[in-house]
Amino acid sequence: EKAGYKHFMQKEIFEQPRAIIDTLRSVVDLNQERLRLSDLNISQDLVKTVKRIHLVACGTSYHACLVAKYLLEQLCHVPVDVDLGSEFRYRGPLLNSNSLLLVVSQSGETADTRAALKEGLERGAHCRAVVNVVGSTLARMAHGVLYTHAGPEIGVASTKTFTTQLVALYLFALHWAHLSGRIQPRQLSYHIQGLRELPGKIEEVLSAEQTLREWARRFMDREHFLYLGRGLLYPIALEGALKMKEISYIHAEGYAAGEMKHGPIALVDEKMPVVALIQKGPLYEKMLSNVQEVKARGGKVLAFVEGDRDVRLDDDVLQFCVPQTAPWLAPIVFTVPLQLLAYHMADLRGTDVDQPRNLAKSVTVE
Ligand code: M6R
Repeated sequence: EKAGYKHFMQKEIFEQPRAIIDTLRSVVDLNQERLRLSDLNISQDLVKTVKRIHLVACGTSYHACLVAKYLLEQLCHVPVDVDLGSEFRYRGPLLNSNSLLLVVSQSGETADTRAALKEGLERGAHCRAVVNVVGSTLARMAHGVLYTHAGPEIGVASTKTFTTQLVALYLFALHWAHLSGRIQPRQLSYHIQGLRELPGKIEEVLSAEQTLREWARRFMDREHFLYLGRGLLYPIALEGALKMKEISYIHAEGYAAGEMKHGPIALVDEKMPVVALIQKGPLYEKMLSNVQEVKARGGKVLAFVEGDRDVRLDDDVLQFCVPQTAPWLAPIVFTVPLQLLAYHMADLRGTDVDQPRNLAKSVTVE
């Protein structure tokens, strides 16, 4: 049932184009370019009532929420808080009938996320869930649900469920922006067009799998990695580092690149590989100067760069070209090569890729 792949994780990485198409099809009328999110149960009145959105999740799903904060604040102009499930209820969150609590979970069973939702329900917040497993506890508890259509995920490491969460949260933001009158049908169709092109861009990344296997071979003996990103790619640096540590058991840390000089740069020497995620746009030059800072201290840079194959950063920087997308979609395409890098690292190191030590697919106890 691994369909010729060595591990479920590898198969699930390759299933991402299909999983994204299925998630899109479930809510987007691709001909008429309209959104049908009726199960989410969000009306124009609700959008007017809600003054703040709280996003709560654990692990990889939490990283999806960090990306969604950018989308919701910029497309919908609504203030957003993001919390870890294990922290949320203990900080006495200010929830009331003007709050919307959106929990995000693959399994729909994670104990801390469930407890957060219970807290929201008790305090009179409007509660919604983005989940993958149909009929799961969170789906049943919330007042409305948006399903990711990733299909079953067997590998413990989340892959296709993460990229489909990012798609679902993007659709959520578009729906909210549309209901609040912040985007017009023409802009909506621009966004939908970008989403339509996304599966093809992911295929492009997948076809470069061998390059990432070679990179993994070169660095498989290292014990530490730093991942740097800015803006929308900062959460992806966190997610890339999480994938690396959980399946290959290499210590990896994700950082906002601008934080380097506030501490972590002290770690950089010739033994420290640094993954740099470089998106086109206003933060491009800033990321390049972070790359220079790392190089000046002897660190080896693995750069994932959006856009042109012809643009060369530097001869001694390893460079992987990530296809260009509409700006909001960069987190999704950048995720895929990081999954492949972690996967091949783990495979070469001979770990139990689908069942990493000490981990469970769904954490149903606190
Ligand atoms: O089922 P959930 O999305 O609620 O699970 C939350 C985390 O346990 C999960 O995302 C975990 O961090 C990933 N499997 C790691 O790859």
